[in-house]
Amino acid sequence: MIVSPSILSCDFGNVERDTKMLHSSEADWLHIDVMDGVFVPNISFGFPILKSVNKHTDKVLDVHLMIVNPDNYIKEFVDSGADIITVHYEACPHLHRSIQLIKSYGVKAGVALNPHTPVSVLEEVIQDLDLVLIMSVNPGFGGQKFISSSVSKVKKLKTLIQQKNASAIIEVDGGVNLKTGAELSQAGADAIVAGSYVFKSEDPSITISNLKKL
Ligand code: DX5
Ligand code: ZN
Repeated sequence: MIVSPSILSCDFGNVERDTKMLHSSEADWLHIDVMDGVFVPNISFGFPILKSVNKHTDKVLDVHLMIVNPDNYIKEFVDSGADIITVHYEACPHLHRSIQLIKSYGVKAGVALNPHTPVSVLEEVIQDLDLVLIMSVNPGFGGQKFISSSVSKVKKLKTLIQQKNASAIIEVDGGVNLKTGAELSQAGADAIVAGSYVFKSEDPSITISNLKKL
C-alpha cells in the first residue's frame, strides 16, 4: 500500500519538524491539501507551505488541489515542488485540457472525484491519467467520518481501469484508518491518504508503518 500522510493535520508551527518526521518514516508520499474557500468551504495554505515542505524532504509531493481555475496555478505548483498534481473533476469544465497541461510540465496528473460523482465520468480520460483520487469524505476538512459507499466505488473504478487497459493508480482520501484502510485495500486501492489518524496518534511513525502493511 502506498501511504500518503496529509500535512493538513500537522502542526503548522512546526512544519519543518513534522516534515522531517514524515521524511524518516515509511511514508511513500506526502499529501498536500490546497483549499481556496471557493470550491470547498475552507481555506488551507498555498505555495509557501509547499515550498517549505519541499525543502525538508525529497519524497513524492502529492498535491491535491481543491480550487477553482487550477490551470492558472499549475506552473507555480510544479515550481514549488509538486510531483503529482490532482485536480477536481467538479472544478474543471475542460478536464482534458487541465490533464494535458499538468503532464506538459513532466509531473503526474490525477483527477479527484467528490463522493457524489460516479466513476463513469472518467471513461473518456482514464487512459490519460496517472491517478484517480476517490474522496471518501466531502472535501474541505480533516477528521471527518469515512463514507462507506467509497469501498464499492473503488471496485467500480478498478473495473473501469481494467476494461480500458489503463494504468491509473487508485488513491482514497478521507476518514482513512486501519479499519477503513483494510476495506479499501481489499477493494483494490493502491494508495491511501491519512491526516488526523496519523497526526493524532501517539506515535505517527508507527501508525504509518501499520498503514503500510495493509
Ligand atoms: C479533505 C482532505 C484530506 C484530509 C484528510 O478535504 O482532502 O486529504 O486531509 O483528513 P483525514 O485523514 O483526517 O480524513
Ligand atoms: Zn486531500
